[in-house]
Amino acid sequence: MQSPTDPTQKKNGLHNMKGVILAGGRATRLHPLTLVTNKHLLPIYDKPIIYYAIEKLVSAGIERIMIVTSPYHVDDFVNLLGSGQNFISKKSGKQIQIVYGIQNAPVGLANGLCIAKDYVGPDNCTLCLGDNVFEDDVSTHIKNFSGGNTIFLTQVPDPERFGVATLNASGGFVRVDEKPKKPKSNWAVTGLYIFDNTVFDKMIGQPLSARGEQEITYLINKYGEEKAVQPVFLKKKWFDVGTFDSLISAGEYMRKKAHKK
Ligand code: TTP
Repeated sequence: MQSPTDPTQKKNGLHNMKGVILAGGRATRLHPLTLVTNKHLLPIYDKPIIYYAIEKLVSAGIERIMIVTSPYHVDDFVNLLGSGQNFISKKSGKQIQIVYGIQNAPVGLANGLCIAKDYVGPDNCTLCLGDNVFEDDVSTHIKNFSGGNTIFLTQVPDPERFGVATLNASGGFVRVDEKPKKPKSNWAVTGLYIFDNTVFDKMIGQPLSARGEQEITYLINKYGEEKAVQPVFLKKKWFDVGTFDSLISAGEYMRKKAHKK
């Protein structure tokens, strides 16, 4: 099913941007917390983790979002989020629309994005990992997106745990490697990506990686071959709340932030 063109979004300069949030996965690093509960439903201070990704996309003017999750947890997301009634677009003053996609097995981020292919239809899409929390305002990058692929990089002390970008002397994108043993930089690729509609063609024939997944880094490198990757360097805090320590750190950070207000 192709999605119809949305004249409101075009008028607002969004060029029909859809949001896709990945909220599947195995969450093995959070066992036993995630043995019966989906990671993205656990709290960061006063809100479920998934709220942060939804709010980030909504604050950038995105009004239509597909949440991709496993068959075992989709009901919980529907119970929590419904059709999106708790999220109001500042632009239109109306509730956003949330729909759901099911990823039968957690075989990679590119595989998860592929579930949203028909939903995205002819539009561009902003993909956010549901366990990532961004303090930077990324809305101008989403609103002004004009094609190719935009990635968001941050410096980390342990790059071998992430997708790592190789950059040229002027900060331009060269390539990205998934969890390299000898990282070429400490710029990690965070879980936010803007793709033009060619992303779905780039998935055709995508091989499984050594760890048996369809990797998002493969797609970024495909854009790299076309010199169409735009790196954005994040300045503020970023959390990937996949571990006990990062989950607690994000919670403490949000608690302090709430008490400062
Ligand atoms: P990861 O943190 O890389 O993987 P995981 O959530 O399965 O956790 P663990 O490594 O502890 O087993 O996943 C990053 C994000 O992407 C997270 O929000 C879950 C999501 N995801 C999917 O939706 N589908 C997938 O196939 C994978 C691998 C991850």
